[in-house]
Amino acid sequence: MSKPVIISGIQPTGNLHIGNYLGAVKKWVELQNSGKYDLYIFVADLHALTGNQTADNRRHQILVAAAELIAAGIDPKKTTLFIQSHIPEHAELAWIFNTVTPVAELYRMTQFKDKSVNQDKNINTGLLTYPVLQAADVLLYKATQVPVGLDQVQHLELTRDIARWFNNRYGEFFPEVKPLLTNVPKVMSLLEPTKKMSKSLGQGQVIEMADDPDTILKKLKKAITATEGGAKAPGAQNLLLLLEHFGGSNYQDFAKAEKAGTIQYGDLKQALAEAIADTFAAFRVRRQKLLDNETDELAAILKTGGAKARRAAEKTIAEVRTLVGLR
Ligand code: TRP
Repeated sequence: MSKPVIISGIQPTGNLHIGNYLGAVKKWVELQNSGKYDLYIFVADLHALTGNQTADNRRHQILVAAAELIAAGIDPKKTTLFIQSHIPEHAELAWIFNTVTPVAELYRMTQFKDKSVNQDKNINTGLLTYPVLQAADVLLYKATQVPVGLDQVQHLELTRDIARWFNNRYGEFFPEVKPLLTNVPKVMSLLEPTKKMSKSLGQGQVIEMADDPDTILKKLKKAITATEGGAKAPGAQNLLLLLEHFGGSNYQDFAKAEKAGTIQYGDLKQALAEAIADTFAAFRVRRQKLLDNETDELAAILKTGGAKARRAAEKTIAEVRTLVGLR
């Protein structure tokens, strides 16, 4: 029996931060290490083309994303790790899916509506058809489960619809996909703790996995903990949650002090900075090695992963071409 295929991807639009880690990457590593799945993880560089990054920055961040995934525990021996654009079949299948997807369904997508407002300089067609490419990413490998955050659930429902529209027209072929919603902590921004931590908010708002211990402490020192209108301070709750998840041994003491109203936020920030810096100590070293490695270990890993993904992708596309009458 072959193992169920699980796939997920991440856009190379900035260094990974601790919200990406707790919300996604850490879960992927757990799925990988369970040995129960055939796991595919990729850098969604074609998706990143819909944003406003420069070409040089994009080129750099694609490699950074791959290096960070490996440094965080994605083991290329266990997981098929690859760069989306290395597999041209993603774009080909996305085109075919465009032709079975009603455009009105794409205008309904929340992420498209949000981006049309927030990225008003460049509302390109790729932003609209973004979820069609995402459906191709998933179905190209006949994945049945996709670990994603809540914000991606609508896209996965569309993936399921696209598979159905295709199957209805051309015959039963693509499987049904389910989002794999794991119980992940919601990490908030440091300076605007009512918003989710996100690279789009800006540097001071996120702690990157690659930040050195001094930078982590500096950022935390500026983090908002103040209470507003007597409500429990969301910033303080966020820092406590992070201490819990980054294994601060003194978490219980701080949690008690917080309830008793005797908590010293300076001490909490210090303890948290140490816990985060320790968690990623080995990560920082491995990441740097991969990025300045002269033997091109990273390129070799991506070549092997790409070749493996390509074999699976070619097989699907060959069958799809026959089904739709392109040969
Ligand atoms: N849209 C996803 C995000 O922004 C990234 C992504 C692209 C993805 N293709 C995917 C995730 C396929 C899961 C499966 O987080």
